[in-house]
Amino acid sequence: MSTKLLHISGKRIIVGVSGGIAAYKSAELIRIFKRAGAEVRVVMTHDAARFVTPLTLGTLSESEVLSEIFPENEDGSWTKHVNLGLWADIFVIAPATAHTIAGLANGSCDSMLTAIALSARCPILVCPSMDHDMFVHASTTTNLEKLASFEYHVLEPDHGELASGLVGKGRLPEPEAIAAAVNEILAGVVGPLSGKTVLVTAGPTRESIDPVRFVSNRSTGTMGYMLAEAARDLGARVILVSGPTNLSPPDGVLTIEIESTSEMAEAVGQHDDADVVIMAAAVADFKPESVHDSKIKKSSVDGDLSLRLQRTTDILATLGANKHDGQILIGFALETDDGIQNATGKLERKKLDLIVLNNPSEEGAGFGTTTNRVDIISPDGDVEKLPVLDKQQVARRILERVVDLIP
Ligand code: CTP
Repeated sequence: MSTKLLHISGKRIIVGVSGGIAAYKSAELIRIFKRAGAEVRVVMTHDAARFVTPLTLGTLSESEVLSEIFPENEDGSWTKHVNLGLWADIFVIAPATAHTIAGLANGSCDSMLTAIALSARCPILVCPSMDHDMFVHASTTTNLEKLASFEYHVLEPDHGELASGLVGKGRLPEPEAIAAAVNEILAGVVGPLSGKTVLVTAGPTRESIDPVRFVSNRSTGTMGYMLAEAARDLGARVILVSGPTNLSPPDGVLTIEIESTSEMAEAVGQHDDADVVIMAAAVADFKPESVHDSKIKKSSVDGDLSLRLQRTTDILATLGANKHDGQILIGFALETDDGIQNATGKLERKKLDLIVLNNPSEEGAGFGTTTNRVDIISPDGDVEKLPVLDKQQVARRILERVVDLIP
């Protein structure tokens, strides 16, 4: 997925389609939203179904298309407009015909589409599409001004060839442009990391011994997931590269699931232009030298089994060696002895901007706990000692330090 549409990932989007020739573009728009990781519901006006079939849009959105405000199979679902209006993170009306715009401007609820708009508490993006003269008519202009006063977002139509054969303003922008506008609205949180891409790694990595066994560690991924959420809440685009965990991918974060260190290295490599990289993953330092194609049977081993392990790639050291101008690299160090000294050594070797030191044997720290106790060490030797805090609080404190480092 393009990192350009990151804020769409995990979001709930209603696509409203009204009856104009550009309705065919809504099919592609739905595909873009689905590919970007959104959940999509579609509502069509009756006229829209003359241009594109509900079957097409239902298949692409993987959900039932709504158009009847009073469906024939009465099952109490006439309140669907209210439920959907509350369910959505954004309602995109594309194309919005002059008739639908008039309905929206006048609070009409004679169609499922306009009824949902009245019930919605989420942002609404209206994408007008019509013939040039209809678009510039005072009636449409006034209606669009009214929509703006309701704080609806309006995407200007493109100038170009229109279905009437005339050339002018009124073309529905391409689906990619509509998706970009949606992404921008959803990005809405303006924070100190707006416009920045933050790459976070989390969880353990697994190194296979054979098809059923592996070498791994006790990391649960919680700290990394909290960091991803904290960065998102500060307005960043967040990419989370996660080893196997029991956690659900955070909303609004592009989550890439991997297993082995080499898969993590590859995923990180694809996004190594991120402004900030936080390597919170407990990456395996060693992997079995060879992976057996089939399960190792006890009977095939004479007595004990020895595993020869070889070093994995050091992902963070590789990033440090190829660091971009202005890029911020944060590492984690897990130390049981000589913590500050060992962590400082890693910070220097891997060319980091900060290293977060934790000692799993300290009370309230380490794997599988809801709290953590860390020291944040910077290259000038400064050590910020944090108390025992919820991992969410620890994540926020680390992100505060990141914000201070942004050039
Ligand atoms: N790390 C990494 N790739 C590896 C191993 C570690 O990117 N193959 C990252 C970790 O995510 C962490 C940092 O490097 O942010 C420090 O990890 P650690 O394993 O403690 O560092 P090492 O230098 O491998 O230290 P040790 O001698 O303690 O094994």
